[in-house]
Amino acid sequence: MGLCHHGNMEPTLDPRLIVALDFPEAGPALDLADRLTGRCGWFKVGLELYLAEGNAILHELRQRGFSVFLDLKLHDIPNTVARAVRSVAETGAELLTVHASGGPAMLAAAVEAAAVTNGPKLLAVTVLTSMDRAQLAATGVADAPADQVLRLAEMAAASGISGFVASAEEVATLRRKLPSAVLVIPGIRPAGAAIGDQKRTATPAAALAAGADYLVVGRPITQAADPAAAARAILEEMQGVPAG
Ligand code: C5P
Repeated sequence: MGLCHHGNMEPTLDPRLIVALDFPEAGPALDLADRLTGRCGWFKVGLELYLAEGNAILHELRQRGFSVFLDLKLHDIPNTVARAVRSVAETGAELLTVHASGGPAMLAAAVEAAAVTNGPKLLAVTVLTSMDRAQLAATGVADAPADQVLRLAEMAAASGISGFVASAEEVATLRRKLPSAVLVIPGIRPAGAAIGDQKRTATPAAALAAGADYLVVGRPITQAADPAAAARAILEEMQGVPAG
């Protein structure tokens, strides 16, 4: 892993940490990224920042040597999604999300389009964590959210998707059912941190122990008075759990 943790040495970058740049514009996003240089190698750009700044923000992050997770949650007809994936491949983003509920044909088209040199690795989103049983029922799905998560994940895996965004509650089951999947887990809260609007949270150590490959951390770092110190505390907690 190449992590050093001797005496009072600073924890170095852990490739399993992804910081979510949930900002409305490039200025504060790049300022935060710069403050985390040497601690975080991955940044997630979501719809808010991407729609405001476009590919320029991805370019700025890549110029600084960071890896980019583009969280666009694509969901459209197969041809449109395939063409969007090809556009993303041009940006150098290394991770890209698609909605598993787009179905097998959409997922297969996305997988095919991503299979180019420097194409992004695709992560499927199954059931949004904002969906409870009642929300899901309103869309015509009578099953419990956990069952629908598993159904969509297995369908996506059969369509060639090898990575998933999952809540901390789902990670252990997905790890068991899909042993070789890449599992990316948001909703991470260090012990004692504000939970905010997240419901299914886990500490960094617990999420890694349950089988997470990457942790997505937003507000515990972005809203901290000292983001670099907050990142350092999370990295220290992660160091206790070696990569699986
Ligand atoms: O600020 P916080 O740590 O809650 O941020 C988590 C990030 O992960 C946000 O960008 C959020 O949109 C994203 N996310 C999530 N839950 C999901 C999928 C994505 O919190 N199920």
